[in-house]
Amino acid sequence: MPVGTSIIKCNIEELIVRLNAALASEYQAWSQYIISAALTRGVLAKESACAFLSHADEELEHAGILVRRIIELDGRPVTEPSTWSKLHEEQVFGNDTSVNTMVRLNTTGEGGAIKMYSDLFEFTDGKDVVTASLIEEILGDEVRHERELLIILENLEQ
Ligand SMILES: [Fe+2]
Ligand SMILES: [Fe+2]
Repeated sequence: MPVGTSIIKCNIEELIVRLNAALASEYQAWSQYIISAALTRGVLAKESACAFLSHADEELEHAGILVRRIIELDGRPVTEPSTWSKLHEEQVFGNDTSVNTMVRLNTTGEGGAIKMYSDLFEFTDGKDVVTASLIEEILGDEVRHERELLIILENLEQ
């Protein structure tokens, strides 16, 4: 076992399962943001679409970070979209694709991501420094995403 793996004090198998669940949620968040940006019409359409697209880019960056860490841990990153929803609960738009609903659903998604990464940070904190610091960085982005969407929501409701 590489020394880099031997210093990890949490259960590595469980860690890989959790990282894969996070990866699935990032792929779904990316896809949801791309679709939201393409469907955006009406009030604050430009601001909303810009936020959706910049968040989409960052979710894909997060997916890359997770993929690299899973491989570093000798795990296998999820590749099949059919397994994403088994690992992660999807936010579904349904027929209502108003800006308001899409911003609201994406905000809920960010809230879920914040909770998930906060749990993952607790799981790795003091036990796997490398993963914990990656998670800390991603968590900071998710908190900012939620904040940005809440500001748009506030403006929409004025
Ligand atoms: Fe993310
Ligand atoms: Fe996010």
